[in-house]
Amino acid sequence: MKRIIIDTDPGIDDALALLLAFSSPELKIEAITTVSGNVSQHKAHLNALKLLEFIGVKNVPVAMGAEKPLLREPMYAEEFHGISGLGDAVLPEPALNSDKRSALQLIFDKIEEFNGKLTLVAIGPLTNIAGALLLDAKKVEKIDELVIMGGAFQLTPYGHGNATPVAEFNIWHDPLAAKIVFDSRLRIKAVGLDVTTDPKNRLTKTAFSNILKANNVRTRLIADLCQRLVEKYDGMSLHDPMAIAVTVDESLAKTSKYKVEVETKSELTLGQTIIDKRRYSKPREEDLNVEICTSIDGERFLKMFMERIVME
Ligand code: BDR
Ligand code: CA
Repeated sequence: MKRIIIDTDPGIDDALALLLAFSSPELKIEAITTVSGNVSQHKAHLNALKLLEFIGVKNVPVAMGAEKPLLREPMYAEEFHGISGLGDAVLPEPALNSDKRSALQLIFDKIEEFNGKLTLVAIGPLTNIAGALLLDAKKVEKIDELVIMGGAFQLTPYGHGNATPVAEFNIWHDPLAAKIVFDSRLRIKAVGLDVTTDPKNRLTKTAFSNILKANNVRTRLIADLCQRLVEKYDGMSLHDPMAIAVTVDESLAKTSKYKVEVETKSELTLGQTIIDKRRYSKPREEDLNVEICTSIDGERFLKMFMERIVME
């Protein structure tokens, strides 16, 4: 069993990731922290509380994190995720309360409580994780691993950007935070667009309609969350659920270590994640800072997703 903290900006696929995580007996979710990204911090936080209440989770603290990226103004993705962040889903006002601590304090407390035996799973922009590193890198370095959904590494034909032609949304939203995280000494695994948008790993329209057949409260929520996207994009990429799935079962992914750098200045390529593949300029072993997922066993991933997403 792995103890994890999920840092999230719900977000439609964040919502699916939470459904999957709480249906995974291999994980013990110790805390949820929220971050500005797909929607404002306020909306993301409220959505996290609503989703936990829907799932029936009572004793997992949910704390508020960054309201803005470190240096830029926030650029939300409401056109994609809907004004609320949860597509067409309408969930009641939650009775659950927020944890009084800040996201950073909650992360530090959990690291101390479990003496670092923790995995951080960041499925939004990396502002909170960078903040924690800026405050006390030594403490954050005690964690076992940071798994992120982020980056477009050009390692497969699908590893190009989504927020811009070259940048993936989570990295583009706060490129400086991503740079701080990649430049840290954390053990990092990245699930990027190279694998999440690979057609063999996407949720097809047919698979989606199979999920809905059960017609219960859970599948009706999934329908309201995803229907519009599935229609518009002929299926759906399961970005954030894939980061959870790889945390549950690392054998789902083939990975390679690379030296990753993030563009933080250029307007045109802001947030691009650059790896050096030149044959004659091999980075030193100690500079390989990120283990990048280069392929996913799509069949096993989708089976896990389909089975667990409807599981109460
Ligand atoms: C990532 O960006 C967000 O819109 C999604 O929730 C996911 O975390 C995909 O690029
Ligand atoms: Ca997200």
